[in-house]
Amino acid sequence: VKNDINKIDPLSLVASELGGITDNISRILETGNPTLSKVARHYFQATGKQIRPLVVLLMSQVVNGLALESHSTSQITSDFAFIDRSVPENLDSDKESMIRDSIIRLALSQSLNKDLYNPTINMNNNVILPTQRRLAEITELIHTASLVHDDIIDGSDTRRGIPTSHQVFGNKMSVLAGDFLLARASVSLARLRNPEVVELLATVIMDLVEGEFKQLKNINSDGSNLQYSDLNAPNEDSFKYYIQKTYLKTSSLFAKSLRASAVLGNASDEYVEMAYIFGRNLGTAFQVHSFNFTFTIKMALVDDLLDFTSSQKQTGKPVGADLNLGIATAPVLYAWQEFPELGVLIKRKFSEINDPQTALLLVQKSQGIAKTRQLIQSYAERAMAALSLFPPSPSRQALLQLTHSLIYRTK
Ligand code: FPP
Ligand code: MG
Ligand code: MG
Repeated sequence: VKNDINKIDPLSLVASELGGITDNISRILETGNPTLSKVARHYFQATGKQIRPLVVLLMSQVVNGLALESHSTSQITSDFAFIDRSVPENLDSDKESMIRDSIIRLALSQSLNKDLYNPTINMNNNVILPTQRRLAEITELIHTASLVHDDIIDGSDTRRGIPTSHQVFGNKMSVLAGDFLLARASVSLARLRNPEVVELLATVIMDLVEGEFKQLKNINSDGSNLQYSDLNAPNEDSFKYYIQKTYLKTSSLFAKSLRASAVLGNASDEYVEMAYIFGRNLGTAFQVHSFNFTFTIKMALVDDLLDFTSSQKQTGKPVGADLNLGIATAPVLYAWQEFPELGVLIKRKFSEINDPQTALLLVQKSQGIAKTRQLIQSYAERAMAALSLFPPSPSRQALLQLTHSLIYRTK
């Protein structure tokens, strides 16, 4: 992957749209009960990265540009004749994943790099439909609802640099505020008057809950606990389980909301599919990357390179939280391939006092971080391959850059 891509500031393309979204979210959280509104608005006073609305808005511009330019889709349509136009209920089945693999292969064979890094830029694709703007808001509402509940489950003290909702308002009001955010998102969703989009985003909510459950209880769909069957090394199931959990917890929202933005933009089935594939791979690269980042900070901490408070300030998260909760993530799973003794720690969810520190030191000695970087790169490249099948435009360039930055960014 080349490093010299044309620089576009992704934020600059949709900055005012993003500002409008924050304002509108605050407006629609108005209720007859000022306390409920206050609790529901808590996380919106500290602006997060808004990465989900950002990519939804950019993808909206990409697909709307297609319609505006009446870009010739005939070649694309014949290339994708093998796509089964069934309703997206089977999005995650094996058959669908074979189709996705064929699309990625096709993209790669059409020479990913040909026009990807030096596009003739079409400046006419800045249209965002009102429904797509609402969709961007809905993604942020659903995401924030899940964070309010997640912080209660994890017992986290800070989020986005401010005290968590339950720290300020207590568990009871916070659970209800999370429910309210989800309910408010559902009303907005229904108002889009598009059943396919309603189904997509409703499925995202199911996926979030299932992903969180998967993390809570390391159980396969058949009730077994195969991924830790041999404590000396991870098996294929350990990685499969981790990637599946990551899909449910993070990539599903990216994938299905980007798919929805293409549906709302009346894009052809092929482009709808590509928007989904792009989102699915970007979401996974994004999640693995952000965890890898917090993980490296924790490792530095073990070395006393950073003190507790500065690390907590940088990440806005309590240090060691993930490890203490016993989640075996990519760096740990890779380290386990080299250090069999990690198996026991993983199985008991790092529950003994020195476990997190021991695990961090072993990961540090291993190829865990380097291999996780390769994993991120492979997902980012698949995302870029899907993106390369859209015609060039500033918004496509911005999405490309955003994806590309996950490979090289060290923070
Ligand atoms: C953050 O993960 C949490 C999520 C991405 C999803 C949490 C989902 C639920 C709590 C299910 C309920 C869902 C809804 C829609 C109300 P993390 O704890 O690994 O990351 P963090 O460090 O950001 O807390
Ligand atoms: Mg958490
Ligand atoms: Mg959590």
